[in-house]
Amino acid sequence: MRYLVTGAAGFIGSHLVERLLAEGHSVVGIDGFVDNYERELKESHLALYAKHPQFEFVEDFIERLDLNAVLDGVERVVHLAALPGVRSSWGSSFEDYASHNVYATQRLLESALHSGVTRFVYASSSSVYGDAADLPMREDARERPHSPYGVTKLAAEHLARLYHRNYGLATVSLRFFTVYGPRQRPDMATQRFLTAARDGTPIMLFGDGEQTRDFTFVADTVEAMVRAAERGHEGAVYNVGGGSTVTVNQLIEAIEEVSGSRLQVDRQGAQRGDVRDTCADTTRARADLDFAPTTPLREGLERQWQHILASAKPDTQKT
Ligand code: NAD
Ligand code: UGA
Repeated sequence: MRYLVTGAAGFIGSHLVERLLAEGHSVVGIDGFVDNYERELKESHLALYAKHPQFEFVEDFIERLDLNAVLDGVERVVHLAALPGVRSSWGSSFEDYASHNVYATQRLLESALHSGVTRFVYASSSSVYGDAADLPMREDARERPHSPYGVTKLAAEHLARLYHRNYGLATVSLRFFTVYGPRQRPDMATQRFLTAARDGTPIMLFGDGEQTRDFTFVADTVEAMVRAAERGHEGAVYNVGGGSTVTVNQLIEAIEEVSGSRLQVDRQGAQRGDVRDTCADTTRARADLDFAPTTPLREGLERQWQHILASAKPDTQKT
């Protein structure tokens, strides 16, 4: 199969590209090196497969590319490119969120109509739910995003559904829940906390730490994407959770155990856009995709810790 993976130099995209190449697929990757974190880090991801004979790379924003040329011969699209991050989506940055997350998705969907694409998997987010009235979160619950980022992820998910309903494009949306693991984005809690444990620097804890997240190991997220591309029901939306819902305080304790060091905690106020709790009901993904997460939090943290220890230079942080 020939896949297009957008966001191929990013955290999740880099793991997906490795998996697809290992399975013998050919992959064309797009990445525009958006400056949400260091280009150097994204280049280090790309370097893992840049020379693979079955991999081609196109560097630009989806908004500017000749997508008909890129989609030539592509059968399956996994659309991961987006400006991520809940807390940084306020104010003037929203223009970039709207362009990279909404406009880029519409352009890609439109071009996919005129190509040989048989499956279009869109990387959605638990942020579409907002502060849900009922936990665990089910796909048929009313979406009420709590951040501008969540609004853009929901808008793009709606676009995917519209292109399915109106044109019959075989779209599948996966709502990921706080993905962690090696190569995680430097702005995310687990990467920040493990890096601080290595470097002996303080961490920032937002709010009281009793907020919960359904942390999902990246290999489990990749497994769900592969299954969705193969057999996801057309037009469907699936939660992809890790089955490891813990509080941020419990995450800190687990990181202290894994790293063998005590974290210095600098307490900050709760952040605008952060929801209190996330927890995925994965019944639908189990039924249609036969998907179940397999990596417990402790094991996933250990793998991310080993990767951080092996990294040459401390990752810089961006608020
Ligand atoms: P990431 O920033 O590491 O990767 C995204 C990549 O897309 C980046 O390398 C960026 O340069 C590229 N990109 C962004 N907009 C682009 C555009 N318009 N054209 C070309 N390239 C573009 O982020 P990630 O954590 O790997 O997230 C990947 C996807 O998964 C995103 O869509 C995000 O919304 C979604 N998601 C992530 C999480 C998580 O916990 N990491 C959870 C839910 C959903
Ligand atoms: C993550 C991703 O960043 C989003 O791109 C994604 O869409 C979202 O998951 C999702 O599930 O849809 P988030 O849950 O905020 O968002 O992930 P983290 O950055 O790892 O934060 C987890 C928790 O730790 C939050 O409550 C946050 O406030 C807290 N945190 C984060 C801190 O206390 N300190 C930090 O330095 C960073």
